[in-house]
Amino acid sequence: MEFLSLPKHIGFIMDGNGRWAKAKGMPRISGHKAGVRQVDVVVDLCLKYRISYVSLFVFSTENWSRPQSEVENLFDLARVYLKKAQAFLKKDVRVVVSGDKTKLPDDLQRAIFDVQTKTANCKSLTLNLCINYGGRDEIVHAVNAAVASGVPVDEKSFKNYFYNPFLPELDLVVRTGGEVRLSNFMLFDAAYAELYFSDVMWPDFDKDEFEKMLFSYQNRVRKFGDIK
Ligand code: IPE
Ligand code: IPE
Ligand code: MG
Repeated sequence: MEFLSLPKHIGFIMDGNGRWAKAKGMPRISGHKAGVRQVDVVVDLCLKYRISYVSLFVFSTENWSRPQSEVENLFDLARVYLKKAQAFLKKDVRVVVSGDKTKLPDDLQRAIFDVQTKTANCKSLTLNLCINYGGRDEIVHAVNAAVASGVPVDEKSFKNYFYNPFLPELDLVVRTGGEVRLSNFMLFDAAYAELYFSDVMWPDFDKDEFEKMLFSYQNRVRKFGDIK
């Protein structure tokens, strides 16, 4: 399929893994595993359509309130996923992580550092994984750093204090799983994003759903306060 206009930066709130598994009589972890497989599908589709930046909500600052076993399962999956540096290099995908890494287990912090270093020169797609990420946390963290610097900021320079300052603002925020909320995802960068909500659970968000999403985006009129 061809599209007239494509987003440069898409953010995905990958929701619905647990309900997907429950509907199949499987444990929640099976839903998360299927969710990771779907990440590969979506990354390949982003490459196919030459989307330059994709941000994925992997673990929120609020997700610590889940049972400890589920938190550990999610970190285990992240560990395995981040080890695939060779696959990222082959696809020319740069991996970066946004979020407060200091609260993550040491080996996960090392895996993050490792994949970020190895893929630093990849250019086709930047994959921003939001782990222990909160939109409010990112803003508060940036405010404190700006205050400490003693130099007043404007909307542009304020972003220099974000986890990955080079990421452009979001053009499109997508949430799967039927809930219609942002759940603290990239609040500053989503300020003028188009929003797309899908009832499909994340593990079922396939090529057809992805193209439906792009089709919806290309029909949006982005006015940014102007008259069009
Ligand atoms: C995945 O979906 C999101 C993560 C926090 C990894 P959920 O685990 O929230 O699935 P549901 O909403 O319970 O179905
Ligand atoms: C948002 O999903 C966080 C991630 C996708 C990582 P949640 O399932 O945690 O959000 P709520 O609890 O429904 O708001
Ligand atoms: Mg959920």
